[in-house]
Amino acid sequence: MPANPDPDRALHVVVTGASSGIGAATARAFAALGHRLSLGARRAERLPELDAPTLRHPLDVTDETSVETFLAAARAAHGAIDVLVNNAGLARGVETIADATGEAWREMIETNVLGVLHVTRRVVPEMIGCGRGHVVMIGSVAGHETYEGGSVYCATKRGLRSIAEGLRYETLGTGVRVTSVDPGMVETEFSVVRFRGDQTKADSVYTGTRPLTADDVAECIVFAATRPAHVNIDSMLVMPTDQASPKRVHRRQG
Ligand SMILES: NC(=O)c1ccc[n+]([C@@H]2O[C@H](COP(=O)([O-])OP(=O)(O)OC[C@H]3O[C@@H](n4cnc5c(N)ncnc54)[C@H](OP(=O)(O)O)[C@@H]3O)[C@@H](O)[C@H]2O)c1
Repeated sequence: MPANPDPDRALHVVVTGASSGIGAATARAFAALGHRLSLGARRAERLPELDAPTLRHPLDVTDETSVETFLAAARAAHGAIDVLVNNAGLARGVETIADATGEAWREMIETNVLGVLHVTRRVVPEMIGCGRGHVVMIGSVAGHETYEGGSVYCATKRGLRSIAEGLRYETLGTGVRVTSVDPGMVETEFSVVRFRGDQTKADSVYTGTRPLTADDVAECIVFAATRPAHVNIDSMLVMPTDQASPKRVHRRQG
């Protein structure tokens, strides 16, 4: 994609969960086009340093005070927010409903659903007032098809699709765009987090197959956000060629 031809129209892009994986790659991709970034995550020291005007600030999307402090810093740094990438999210464990204790459910629901809502509701009114803006949800193929042991993670991502759909109705006619980018398997820290630091288990998720990279997904996000104002990419389901569904992955031997 060409570099941003009009630096005066550099977008202010907010990326949640930018300390790793898809969020960090998205930040790099927007920065390469000359846009302005506000990046948040709990591990603020891991937020990428970019060759573009960038705010790097602590953010815990499950904590409303943290969300407010982060957004105030973002606006102080770069003014009104043009693009919000709701990327922060996680899966914890693979466990049946009968075997679960409920701790992991709370963490996933608080991060993937409530976290997105806490940020979005503090950004959308400003976008409506400006008559433009773009909210990008990072969903998942897990929001399209459920797998055993992943019911609650899948529920959070299916819920996100409903939230995106509702928001699209609520902002219709205001100029605000809402996109859901829903990847299949991407090799990031996602599986290490899911298996609580068990690198061997995390690596086994990708054995013999070729997953997406974080950069592949970042390209899709940037594509959606840089269409002309009258074009809204509603949703993108982005899969590795080696994956047909959460349960069907092609693996090579040896
Ligand atoms: N990898 C996949 O296969 C895959 C597939 C489909 C969808 N996704 C989705 O893609 C998104 C990004 O995941 P990823 O694959 O890039 O995984 P990742 O490398 O583990 O990155 C997750 C990011 O979310 C942040 N985060 C988690 N909890 C947070 C919180 N409470 N507040 C703020 N930030 C928080 C993490 O930062 P800190 O820990 O520093 O806070 C990290 O930067 C997630 O929503 C995930 O569900 C991933």
